Amino acid sequence: MVKRYIDRYHPILYSCSMTIIDGRAVAQKIQDELKQEISQLSGRPPCLAVILVGDNGPSRIYVNRKTKACEEVGIKSIKRHLEASISEDKLLKEVEHFNVNPEVDGILVQLPLPDHINDSRVTRWINPEKDVDGFHPVNVGKMLIGETNGFFPCTPLGVKELIVRTGVEIQGKNIVIVGRSNIVGKPLAAMLLQRGQGIDATVTVAHRFTSDLKEITLGADILVVAIGVPNHISADMIKEGAVVIDVGINRIEDLARKSGSRLVGDVDFEKAKEKCSFITPVPGGVGPMTIAMLLKNTLKSYRQSVL
Ligand SMILES: NC(=O)c1ccc[n+]([C@@H]2O[C@H](COP(=O)([O-])OP(=O)(O)OC[C@H]3O[C@@H](n4cnc5c(N)ncnc54)[C@H](OP(=O)(O)O)[C@@H]3O)[C@@H](O)[C@H]2O)c1
Repeated sequence: MVKRYIDRYHPILYSCSMTIIDGRAVAQKIQDELKQEISQLSGRPPCLAVILVGDNGPSRIYVNRKTKACEEVGIKSIKRHLEASISEDKLLKEVEHFNVNPEVDGILVQLPLPDHINDSRVTRWINPEKDVDGFHPVNVGKMLIGETNGFFPCTPLGVKELIVRTGVEIQGKNIVIVGRSNIVGKPLAAMLLQRGQGIDATVTVAHRFTSDLKEITLGADILVVAIGVPNHISADMIKEGAVVIDVGINRIEDLARKSGSRLVGDVDFEKAKEKCSFITPVPGGVGPMTIAMLLKNTLKSYRQSVL
C-alpha cells in the first residue's frame, strides 16, 4: 500500500517504499523563494520580454502561463504578439529592439515559429546575455565546457533540480537519459556530466537506434525519459529502487473522460511506481519546473546585468 504525506520542509510526497515527486509543489516553493528575493531588490524589477508569433493554441497557453508566473513573483513581463505572416527580418528587428533595451533582462521567442521563419536564425539573433531559454549556441557552448555564467535550458535545469531535491546523491551514479533532443536529452547529459559537487554522474544517452534499451535502462540508478512515446518505459525496464524522472507529455484517447483524452508520460507510471524510490507523475512532475527555471534564469540575467 502506498502511504503518503507531505513533509513540511520538503515539498515532495513521501511513502514507505516510494515517493511521488510533486513537481507543482517544488515549483511553487522555488517561485515563493524567487518572490521573496525579488521583493528585496531596489531599483527596477527584473523584466522578461516574450514574443509570440501567430495563433498556435498551445503556444498561447504556454506564453500566458509564463507571463502570469512572472507577475506572481514580481518580474515585469512584456508580451509582443505578432502576426503569423510577419517576415523573418521584421521578427529579427523585434528581437533586436529587446536586445538593446537595457531594461529587458530576458528574451524568449516562443517556439515553434511559422514554417517560413528559420527558428535557428531567430534563436541566434537573441543577445546571449538575455537568452533565458538557454538555446543560443554561446550558452550551449558555455554549458558544455562547464562555465556557469551562461543560461541552462529550462526543462533539463528543472529535471536536475528535481533530482537534487530528492536528496539522492548524484555523484558517481549511473544516469540513463532516454532521448537526445537539443532541448532536453543532450543538455541534461552535459549538465550531469560536469565536474563539481553534486554532479559528477556517469551518463548514458539512449535514442531510437540504441540496441537493447532495456539492458541500458536496467543499469540506471537515475532514469530520465524524454522521448514523447506514451508509456514506452515499462516497469520491467526499471531497476528496483531507481529514481525515475518522466519528461514526456503525451495526449492519449480516454473515452471515459468528458474531454475524451488525458495526458500521460513516457513511463508506465502505475506499474513503474511500485519499483522506484522516487518518480514524477505526468502531469504535475517536470512540467511546472520549466516555468520556475525560466523565472530563475531571468533573475540571474538581471543580477548579472544590474548588480
Ligand atoms: N515537461 C516539459 O516542460 C517538457 C519540455 C520539453 C519536452 N517535453 C516532452 O518531452 C518529450 C520529448 O520532447 P523532445 O522535444 O525532447 O522530443 P524530440 O525532439 O522529438 O526528441 C525525442 C527523442 O527521443 C528519442 N526517441 C523517440 N522514440 C524513441 C524510442 N522508441 N526509443 C528510444 N528513443 C526514442 C528520439 O531519438 P532519435 O534522436 O534517434 O530520433 C529523440 O532523441 C515530449 O513528450 C515532449 O512533449 C516536456
